[in-house]
Amino acid sequence: MIGVYDSGVGGLSVWKELVALMPAQDYVYVADSAHCPYGDKSREYVARRADTVVRFMIEKGVEAVVVACNTATAAAIAELRSAYSIPFIGMEPAVKPAVNISHTGVVGVLATANTFRGTLYRDTVMRYASGIKVIEKVGKGLVEAVERGVVPKDLIKEYVGEMTDQGADVIVLGCTHFPFLSEEIARCAGPSVRIINPAPAVARQAVRMLDGRVFGGGTRKFYSTGDTAVLRGLAIGIDSSLTPDDFEKVSV
Ligand code: DGL
Repeated sequence: MIGVYDSGVGGLSVWKELVALMPAQDYVYVADSAHCPYGDKSREYVARRADTVVRFMIEKGVEAVVVACNTATAAAIAELRSAYSIPFIGMEPAVKPAVNISHTGVVGVLATANTFRGTLYRDTVMRYASGIKVIEKVGKGLVEAVERGVVPKDLIKEYVGEMTDQGADVIVLGCTHFPFLSEEIARCAGPSVRIINPAPAVARQAVRMLDGRVFGGGTRKFYSTGDTAVLRGLAIGIDSSLTPDDFEKVSV
């Protein structure tokens, strides 16, 4: 059984890619929506939440965890890997593919403040983006909007405009909530700007890491520490065979 964890509903953008590649696996998804957003909380707080949620998932029987949250990956993946013996797959800031396809040499990254503060992100930029202008844009308010199930057009226009005005021809979605806004992001950016969603690459990495190790009967269960309505709506939008019984509110 594979556990998929995010601060909220955003990790469904990764779960969607996982089930596309590995439909027969059993999945448990946990949205920590009662404690979302993680983006501006302390690193210690996020690491504690990640540990609590992972322990909950292990009690449910998961044998591998996809940390489908850039912020939790930045804050906690090293600690999780040393605390538990199961495999953890985290989010990668997709700076390298963005640099590879940029013609202008200007790349925009839309993520949370904590993702930008993390050493994972900093190291990636140092390694792959020398000579490239990387515009780091904190998507303030976007995660909360996705949690409410709305598309904040004015905020998207402002943030995307700040990146494209400086010449960005690639925008990296550095937060798993943002693929749910990608249509509007692409509309504001215009046809000459490429949008990179790292989720498919992370799912392919999960396939490589789990190959032959996890098998199941195709079951799905979704937990949220907050309200399940938006989670349910988005998940059923991805897989229409899900039923309300697949969703449960928990307090962990
Ligand atoms: N989906 C999370 C991420 O990828 C959102 C972070 C937050 O809760 O602020 O970073």
